[in-house]
Amino acid sequence: MLNQEIYDRVTAGFAAKFGGKPAFVAYAPGRIEVLGNHTDYNEGYVFSAAIDKGTFFAASPSGDGKISLVSADLGETYECDVASVAPVKEGATWANYVIGTFNWLFGGDVSAAGGGFKAVFGGNIPLGAGLSSSAALEMATALALCAVYGIEKDRTTLAKIGQKAEHTFAGCPCGLLDQASSMYGAEGALVKSDFRTNEFETVAMGDSAAFMMVKSNAKHALVDGAYASRRKACEDAAKYFAGVLRKPVTHLRDVTMAEWVLYRGGLDETTAKRAVHPIGEDERVLQGAALLAKGDLRGFGALMYDSHESSRRWFENSCEELDAIVDAAKKIPAVYGARLSGGGFGGSCCLLVEPAAAGEIAEKITAEYRAAFGDEPVCQLIRPSGGARLV
Ligand code: GLA
Repeated sequence: MLNQEIYDRVTAGFAAKFGGKPAFVAYAPGRIEVLGNHTDYNEGYVFSAAIDKGTFFAASPSGDGKISLVSADLGETYECDVASVAPVKEGATWANYVIGTFNWLFGGDVSAAGGGFKAVFGGNIPLGAGLSSSAALEMATALALCAVYGIEKDRTTLAKIGQKAEHTFAGCPCGLLDQASSMYGAEGALVKSDFRTNEFETVAMGDSAAFMMVKSNAKHALVDGAYASRRKACEDAAKYFAGVLRKPVTHLRDVTMAEWVLYRGGLDETTAKRAVHPIGEDERVLQGAALLAKGDLRGFGALMYDSHESSRRWFENSCEELDAIVDAAKKIPAVYGARLSGGGFGGSCCLLVEPAAAGEIAEKITAEYRAAFGDEPVCQLIRPSGGARLV
């Protein structure tokens, strides 16, 4: 079920600004990352889910050569000529997700669009929480603009267009996880992604477990270089392993834990630490798939705790707030597992929990967090939900 209140707010915003109804409205959800961290750009595996929060994007052709955008949530507008589409460096940087997606829908040659568009968007994904509000905006933009311009592209291609907008307009060298999760999410299911083949499979979750997101108050920003430096270390490590292993290696996906143990000595210490994280995560996702198939939620949860430990110790993309949430979760028997979700360096943790105990879990974690940091995290049950669509 889509959120009617947000739909109404966005379409009313459209009527107020541009008059009349939008020609098309698209919706795209945010995502949680459940297992498999920083594996996507290493061509590895991830379990994720689309969440029951998302962004609506209401759009019509503009009839002139202009793009007019309104962010209903921020109460801000952005306008430019189609001919002058370029990354926004200051001020309304949120527009980058929209105009970047528009730019790459036309392969970078926006003159092919023939005309502009006007749009209002808004949603309920908290910003900076590590729930991929930006990917949701890109995917909602992509679907709505495909309808506006009569373009047909498959979901993986649209996900890649959103990723390219991140790289070239927003300045974050992300993988494909966020956009693919938004595109391929399904009701009550996890998405198991293989980022070598770009195959996206859905795995039903059942009712005996639920996800709880716990948003720390630590700032989550991936554009400030920490994400890029992790990615670079992984790529350097892959090049090293390609030189020492007697088999083809293009990404860390090709390296096993046993090979890392044997050959890590030839890497500098930091690069070795970074490399072992995605290598271990790939193994955990594959083990996790087998455990889920047997209904072993405790086993799956233990892998989530291991994943967090690997972030904390090797990849160093955790922070004391996220560590405190996971440490608090470990003391609660009704939590199966917990880990940071997404890029890291702040944002949210994802907990696998017994649904009936959700209230008690939120209370305990909030109390521990408050005692340590003086403020409160936001705990929310998340329902794995359907992916992006035209409304
Ligand atoms: C961010 C990126 C994704 C992925 C995750 C970490 O969410 O946007 O591409 O790399 O971090 O797994």
